[in-house]
Amino acid sequence: LENGMALTPIMGWLHWERFTCNTDCYNDPDNCVSEKLFMQIADIMVTDGWKDAGYEYVCIDDCWLALTRDKEGRLQADPDRFPGGIKKLADYVHAKGLKLGIYQDVGNRTCAGYPGSYGHYDIDAQTFAEWEVDLLKFDGCNFINLDILVEGYKNMSRALINTGRNITFSCEWPLYLWPFQTPNYTDIREHCNQWRNSGDVFDSWKSVTGIIDWTANHQQLLVPFAGPGAWNDPDMLVIGNFGLSPDQQVSQMIIWAMMAAPLLMSNDLRYIDPKAKALLQNKNIIAISQDPLGKQGYKIASVNNFDVWERPLSGDRYAFAVTNRYELGGPRHFPIFMATVPGWRRCFPTCLIATVFPNYVELGEHSFLSQYKFTINPTGTVLFIVSIPPKTKLLNNL
Ligand code: DGJ
Repeated sequence: LENGMALTPIMGWLHWERFTCNTDCYNDPDNCVSEKLFMQIADIMVTDGWKDAGYEYVCIDDCWLALTRDKEGRLQADPDRFPGGIKKLADYVHAKGLKLGIYQDVGNRTCAGYPGSYGHYDIDAQTFAEWEVDLLKFDGCNFINLDILVEGYKNMSRALINTGRNITFSCEWPLYLWPFQTPNYTDIREHCNQWRNSGDVFDSWKSVTGIIDWTANHQQLLVPFAGPGAWNDPDMLVIGNFGLSPDQQVSQMIIWAMMAAPLLMSNDLRYIDPKAKALLQNKNIIAISQDPLGKQGYKIASVNNFDVWERPLSGDRYAFAVTNRYELGGPRHFPIFMATVPGWRRCFPTCLIATVFPNYVELGEHSFLSQYKFTINPTGTVLFIVSIPPKTKLLNNL
């Protein structure tokens, strides 16, 4: 969507995976979906380096609404859990230099059963703009039929633009179409800044690899549509929670950066282990995620239970990520110049190599035949950048 938003994949925090639809502020006051939670997250995003690292959006998901609209038909937040209302919360978040995201649904009801936007797209867009909201995640539960689903997303996209406020539009349109038909991605990228294709992320390696493999299997369709203002969204980062080992957290972070995915964490920033924090704030991985060329990466090979991903970067550079997908035994070696990896042909006679993760190290010039080896733990990933020096580029272009 060409509304000037999300020129690189957005970065921020979204409550759903970690806090789901916890509305029980009586028994669980610190973890229920309430203005207090979002204010605390906003505070920490500033004090603990998240904002400096690039994380900007504080996003509300489902279960923020009251069960009914007000007398004028406007949406209202649950009065007990959001006593100050959304406008006040937006002011609070803006005062910290951050942005506020909110959630609604194209159908009659949200997935959790709160009032949906169907039949109210204009008034709801207007309400969000008056509250000075910066992002809308638009879910697709309880739609009337497929035509109305598609029309609903288009109408809400137009309604948001008509408010005159800059609002990033996050869609789930393709996810809800896939069971019935192949989505029209030309249409989707014209109306959305990002869109979910695959199912909800859970806090497990099975879920994360499920999303990675689904994306790789559909990459020929998906990758061409990604670019500034328009991104495929493989769902939230679950790093810092309970289900992923340290190596698996590394893999999610790196592959999300390679996929040019929105980096929306869903974790508890109030209690996060230092290693997970350092990974989420890793400048070199974030630089790849936010590369201004805005090209989504893709899997180029599965060799010997290694998955190899490539992402073209600005300045004649390519990022490569290699995941060890073999869940038996110990660390294994990956020789970087395996003839089986297609992209290497660009490196004749030489390329400059730098490892990015686990450590940033410049390895200098390497020929097609060098035998530099990476060691990768089971379910872990290494990341490196290959730069094509001018003389090699010249030879390549002959
Ligand atoms: C389904 C979406 O895919 C999730 O990300 C989340 O927003 C839930 N609905 C909320 O009900």
